[in-house]
Amino acid sequence: MEMTRRKVPLFRSLRARFLFYFLVLSGISLVLFGSLFAYFVVRENGRLTDKARRELVEQANEMARDLILLFGLAQQYPNLALANAQRVAQVLRLEGKLINAFSVVVNESGEVTAPRPIPLLFPHSLDPSLLAEDQVKAQEAEFPRMGKVLVVAVPLDLGDSDAGYNLVVVKRTGDLVTSTSSTLTRYLLIAGVSALVASVLLALYLSNYVSRPLHRLSGAAWELAHGNLQSRVEVFGEDEISRLCQYFNYMAERIDRSTRQQKEFVANVSHEIRTPLTSIEGFSQALLEGVVESEGDRRRYLEIICRECRRLKRVLSQLLSLSRIDSGAWALRPEPLSPGPFLEGVARKVRPRAEEKGLRLEIGIDKPLRDVVVDADALEQVLTNLLENAVKFTPEGGTVALSAEFAPGGWLRVLVRDDGPGIPPEDLERIFDRFFRVERSRAQDQGGSGLGLSICRELVLLMGGRIHVWSEPGKGSVFAVEIPPVPPGEAPGSAAHQDLSSG
Ligand SMILES: Nc1ncnc2c1ncn2[C@@H]1O[C@H](COP(=O)(O)OP(=O)(O)OP(=O)(O)O)[C@@H](O)[C@H]1O
Ligand SMILES: [Mg+2]
Repeated sequence: MEMTRRKVPLFRSLRARFLFYFLVLSGISLVLFGSLFAYFVVRENGRLTDKARRELVEQANEMARDLILLFGLAQQYPNLALANAQRVAQVLRLEGKLINAFSVVVNESGEVTAPRPIPLLFPHSLDPSLLAEDQVKAQEAEFPRMGKVLVVAVPLDLGDSDAGYNLVVVKRTGDLVTSTSSTLTRYLLIAGVSALVASVLLALYLSNYVSRPLHRLSGAAWELAHGNLQSRVEVFGEDEISRLCQYFNYMAERIDRSTRQQKEFVANVSHEIRTPLTSIEGFSQALLEGVVESEGDRRRYLEIICRECRRLKRVLSQLLSLSRIDSGAWALRPEPLSPGPFLEGVARKVRPRAEEKGLRLEIGIDKPLRDVVVDADALEQVLTNLLENAVKFTPEGGTVALSAEFAPGGWLRVLVRDDGPGIPPEDLERIFDRFFRVERSRAQDQGGSGLGLSICRELVLLMGGRIHVWSEPGKGSVFAVEIPPVPPGEAPGSAAHQDLSSG
């Protein structure tokens, strides 16, 4: 399926979602907090207002008592009337000021009779419905120049006079409680808006922080997918996203390496197949054209053709084995096996070639070894490869030895030793790589393609084992294959294992 590179629509981008969720979250918490706070403020305000109202009524009552006293005096001493009118005005003003309210005396039709002059802003007459007849009355009202007010009216009992005077104390509702809910609401609003602005900035920063590296990563992945195997991302920091970038780079590195190996592999395979084919073609053509005259030459040519065919067959069967192992199609069939007879059987197959070359082949198994559970075919292929190498590379008169023992932990260790040319230390690491040969031309002369040891390694790993090599140029080499006591995938306590370990 061909992918096209598309830009993420803005409203669907991680960044937009991040912003959206962050804002919704902070919005909800702000509204919730704000309304709870406002509710408490309003409730507290109501309680304080009630208290202030009761106090105002009490203060009005007290003031009324003072006034009645003054009026009583005026009746007793009529010649003091003028002075008294001034006293009344003074009491009204002073006591009103003390409680931050207006206090006036009104007659029964609501006209203000004292003090004179009437305080600034205060209406000259009041609605009679606000006045009290025999009980104190407290009501909310709206005065033209004063706004919302609380009006407390106290009837003034002036003895025999039946004029129906009222002391009226008026206080602005806003002055009842010092800090009103509206002020608090304003502060709350300012705090809320600042918090919202702060969260927008923070959300922008965070969303950038998350989306920018992801953006770079998706760009790099796109490049990689379209063949740029050098595509990598810069890694900053140590968080999850940088970990993701690190893994991306690692993945790209591995893809790069494996692609290179694959190309090399194909080049090697074609080379290994073309070389024998070329020589088969050349020699058979010479035979066909009749240019070879002697019977001996003809025979030699046919032998070369036959050898090259065998070589081709061997390479193809090795490639087939590798491909079976790589694809996981090589199924192991572990079964109990007696190491002694098994190793002798393997050596028997290599012996003719060793003897042909004038080599000594020694088998060193001192004491009888207990049975192991292993795939005999796979192990035989590994050991045959190692023995063939030893025989192939050891010059005439040399010795090749095959021995076996049990290593700590119950591992079976098989050693293949020779006193041949050895392997240079710098090549030891690559000896198990596909198509690797120490001296390409020399190994090729001996008919090798460099696949034998790589098959050995794959098979040993498949069996859950290990393979090692020790070698010194000029002195010889030792290859060690170690096989675990229990095949991979089988529990240590399984029946087959118990049978053997007790023996
Ligand atoms: N016992 C040994 N002594 C010296 N060199 C060795 C020995 N075994 C392996 N080598 C070196 O390691 C190389 C790789 O061995 P490997 O078995 O993979 O390939 P090969 O024997 O050349 O070819 P093939 O096994 O595919 O026929 C050989 O070409 C050889 O140079
Ligand atoms: Mg080999």
